[in-house]
Amino acid sequence: MDTFHRNRYLEAIGVDVWVRRPGGPLEALSVPERLETVSAQPAPLTPAALEAPEPVSADVEEPWQGLRTEILSCTRCSLHKTRTQGVVGVGPPRTDWMVIGEAPGAEEDRRGEPFVGRAGHLLDAMLRAIDLDRKTNVYIANVLKSRPPNNRDPKPEEVTAYLPYLMRQIALLQPRLMLAVGRIAAQNLLSTDMSLSRLRGKVHYFGELNTPLIVTYHPAYLLRTPADKRKAWEDLKFARSVFRQLTDRVGIDGHLS
Ligand code: URA
Repeated sequence: MDTFHRNRYLEAIGVDVWVRRPGGPLEALSVPERLETVSAQPAPLTPAALEAPEPVSADVEEPWQGLRTEILSCTRCSLHKTRTQGVVGVGPPRTDWMVIGEAPGAEEDRRGEPFVGRAGHLLDAMLRAIDLDRKTNVYIANVLKSRPPNNRDPKPEEVTAYLPYLMRQIALLQPRLMLAVGRIAAQNLLSTDMSLSRLRGKVHYFGELNTPLIVTYHPAYLLRTPADKRKAWEDLKFARSVFRQLTDRVGIDGHLS
């Protein structure tokens, strides 16, 4: 992605971009300028985002459909009593990147898609900054598939009920890289109670396929704590560099070179 477009995406997620004014010193774009940029002129799609998703054959699609049906009719825990609908996931059924969050919120519960509220808009902007787009090249899911009332933290029995669905999504997708956003997703995927700050900045390995997993902040936290957006941007760059190393090392046919 060229510098102009990357700067627009960074501005959209609220990371200060330093520019040289004509004849003046380096200075950060001001917040109003950033907001104007975002509202007046939607960031152009990257070439990656403009690519049409790959056509998917029936044998790839079918197990996803089966899983979807199961999740939407799941009554394994009491959350089905208070939800509007289950929220399965979004993205192509075959793709290299997987993002995992915590649980649907009010807007997700209403629309049946993960990360479509305010936090979702920020997540989209964060992903765009590293050339990812939910329509073409990243699959997004949550640990829980139903909204906990009042967005409270998931209870252990709810995680136990829903985790097998997430495991099946991971097994079907076989992503090359997983990004856990927020403490709840990270701790449950890594079976740890370590703090998010200790989990960031390193590559973890998930499951039998040893899929690289990187941890970053939850976008809802970043909305409350914008000062940490810069650290989130470091995490995203780190994830992108790990992915590049992986794809440099592994040929198109998936074999180590
Ligand atoms: N927060 C999450 O963790 N997931 C969503 O889908 C929405 C908000």
